[in-house]
Amino acid sequence: MTKLVQAEPRDMVASGGPAFRQAMAQVASAVHVVTTQGPAGRAGMTATSVAPVSDDPPTMLVCIEAASRTLAAIEASGAFCINTLGDQSIELAEIFARRRNLEGEARFATADWITLATGAPVLADALVAFDCRLIDVKHVATHRILIGEVVAMGGVGTGAGLVYRRRGFSSV
Ligand SMILES: Cc1cc2nc3c(=O)[nH]c(=O)nc-3n(C[C@H](O)[C@H](O)[C@H](O)COP(=O)(O)O)c2cc1C
Repeated sequence: MTKLVQAEPRDMVASGGPAFRQAMAQVASAVHVVTTQGPAGRAGMTATSVAPVSDDPPTMLVCIEAASRTLAAIEASGAFCINTLGDQSIELAEIFARRRNLEGEARFATADWITLATGAPVLADALVAFDCRLIDVKHVATHRILIGEVVAMGGVGTGAGLVYRRRGFSSV
C-alpha cells in the first residue's frame, strides 16, 4: 500500500500546533456558515469542523473556538443553523471568517436570509441548510463541540459545492 504521509515516531510525538495545522491543511472540507439569532441580533461564522452524528434522530455537530462570539450567541439562543455553501459564496465565507473586518449583523448584509423552525438565519442560496436545536455542549481543550438535533432542513439542493484545502477555496 502506498504511504501518503511519511511520519516518524518523533513527528507523532511533536504533532501539536503548526505541525497539526499543516497536516489538517491537506484535508478537503466542505465549507459552512453557522448562524444563530442571538439575544443581541444575528451572529454567524464560517466553519469546516462540521459533521453528521446520527441518523435517527438526525443530529449534527460543529466545533467552535471558545472565544467565538457566535458560540456565545448560540449558547444563549439554544439553536443554530448549519448553512452549507455553494461555490458562489466564497466572499461570504471570507466575511464570516472575520477576514473583512465585519462583525455580528454586518456580516449578513450581502446575502438573502430566511428562517425555518428555530429562527436561526438560513442562507437563501445554501446548497443545504440544517436548522438545529442545541441539545449538548462538550468542552474539549480550546473548543466546544455543539451537538444539534436537526428540526428542519432547507437549501436549494443543487449546484457546485465549496471546499477548503491548502488554505484556499475551490469548487467541487
Ligand atoms: C475555511 C475556514 C474554516 C473555519 N472553520 C472554523 C471552525 O470549524 N471552527 C471555528 O471555531 N472557527 C473556524 N474558522 C474561524 C472562524 O470563522 C472565525 O474565527 C470567525 O470569524 C469567528 O467569528 P465570531 O467570533 O464572530 O464567532 C474557520 C475559518 C475559515 C477561513
